[in-house]
Amino acid sequence: MSDTNNVLMSMRHLSRTFSQRTGLFGRQSHSVYAVNNVSLDIYRGETLGLVGESGSGKSTFARLALRLIEPTSGTVQFEGKSLTSMGRDELLAFRRKAQMVFQDPYSSLNPRLTVSRLIGEGLDLAGITNVVDRTTETARLLELVGLAPSISNRYPHQFSGGQRQRIGIARALAAGPTFIAADEPVSALDVSVQAQVLNLLLQLQNSLSLTMLFVAHDLAVVRHISDRVAVMFLGRIVELADSDSIYSAPLHPYTRALLEAIPIPDPDRTPPTPPAIEIQPIEGAGCPYAARCRFAVAMCRETVPDLREHEPGHYAACLRAGEI
Ligand SMILES: Nc1ncnc2c1ncn2[C@@H]1O[C@H](COP(=O)(O)OP(=O)(O)OP(=O)(O)O)[C@@H](O)[C@H]1O
Ligand SMILES: [Mg+2]
Repeated sequence: MSDTNNVLMSMRHLSRTFSQRTGLFGRQSHSVYAVNNVSLDIYRGETLGLVGESGSGKSTFARLALRLIEPTSGTVQFEGKSLTSMGRDELLAFRRKAQMVFQDPYSSLNPRLTVSRLIGEGLDLAGITNVVDRTTETARLLELVGLAPSISNRYPHQFSGGQRQRIGIARALAAGPTFIAADEPVSALDVSVQAQVLNLLLQLQNSLSLTMLFVAHDLAVVRHISDRVAVMFLGRIVELADSDSIYSAPLHPYTRALLEAIPIPDPDRTPPTPPAIEIQPIEGAGCPYAARCRFAVAMCRETVPDLREHEPGHYAACLRAGEI
């Protein structure tokens, strides 16, 4: 992955396990990899789409990127500095520069705080303390996300889902970030407002030159917003390429399955339902996707495929990529 000057964030061999209880009355516990040995660069000014089914590790990855949780192993660097070795001041500066937009604008906004107080949390981080400056800045941010400055004394419950998500975006922007991790920012919204919020994010990303990690369940949502797309399966990146290549020349069978699952507006065609996620396979027991893969052959059950560059900038973790 090229051009280190252009890299804003860099993950190397990043893993995070969680212990999960199983068995009768949850008496046994075992570790599962939510994120498993992910190495990835995020370039300045790009929007990287991260897709995969429920439980594939997307939110865990986004939270690791913002150091909201600690990795079990591996590293995350931001502007060349490791997140885990940052001192107090550096970490505070990082919190300003890297912000999150959450999935659910109903639960992510404290219902007891007015809009101006919510946005004020971001202004606190940015170090804007003067009352006049804060009022001006709050008005500017609300306008930026398409809301009237006059709403600043209202509470979250007085708004629709789309409006709440706009408030969530304004709050994230208030800190003055260069990087935004948006974790399924439109999944909880009505279909009719999803496109509006997506367009807003796209427009803000352009006008503010933001770098964005955009998490979504399906490839349809990230298509228009992403420069590159990473496809995640059971904690691993299985394919990574620029958007056009992902959609026009996918290399991994899982990416193809995700593309086939995109609903097509044709009443006669029902898209296949992706099968339910299976138990995490034992490490070393071959390709994690083999059990589901219609192209799997004997070697796929024996060897774990590395994420390998097949075309310039187009990576896939499939032993049969290019021949299927
Ligand atoms: N705090 C936690 N404690 C225990 N297990 C967790 C925790 N957070 C995530 N996991 C597990 O890690 C795996 C990945 O979860 P994660 O939430 O990152 O997936 P996701 O791709 O964001 O899914 P979704 O699309 O449903 O949001 C899942 O098996 C999940 O159960
Ligand atoms: Mg998630």
